[in-house]
Amino acid sequence: MSAGPSIRLTITTPFTLTALIFMVGCASAPPEQASLSTHTQPVIRSVVDGVFTNRQATRGQRSFERICEACHRTREFRGSAFQQEWAGRPLGDLLQLLVSTMPPNDPGFLELSEYRDIVSYMLRQNGYPAGETELPADTSILMNIRFDMRGGI
Ligand code: HEC
Repeated sequence: MSAGPSIRLTITTPFTLTALIFMVGCASAPPEQASLSTHTQPVIRSVVDGVFTNRQATRGQRSFERICEACHRTREFRGSAFQQEWAGRPLGDLLQLLVSTMPPNDPGFLELSEYRDIVSYMLRQNGYPAGETELPADTSILMNIRFDMRGGI
């Protein structure tokens, strides 16, 4: 293996790629382009689907009373204003916000599972149904659960 071919390869590859991209671009008709558009993460569930348990929400309530009620009241996180703020977004965003900003003097003070339980409590306070399975303390899974207005799809 001499240096020659490998140098030639690195020089010619960009040209080849450009030519390919050009050809693909010319070949694809408008209908095909639609199917090439980037897909967002698959959203597989919604908060209306019973994504937390009652026990979990009650644990969350205890944590909320212990830590958050120093500054907040539950009603701040209940009702249509709260639901509208989060509607259409992944539940993981809410978990992430709590973990990274609350309490303001010591973000991340609680265990991830405690923040997750507080999210469950907030859902229950908004009238979302409890289910059989706990909300996992895994932000990536919560990113696949969409926050919907209660009763909406
Ligand atoms: C020491 C006081 C304090 C504590 C304790 C505290 N917060 Fe906060 N929280 C604030 C303040 C102040 C804001 C407003 C920050 C802002 O808007 O920039 C806020 C904002 C929020 C928001 C965003 C509200 C919105 O509509 O954007 C949420 C959600 C929240 N807090 C939840 C919690 C939870 C859950 C806990 C308990 C784990 C908690 N907070 C503990 C003071 C506190």
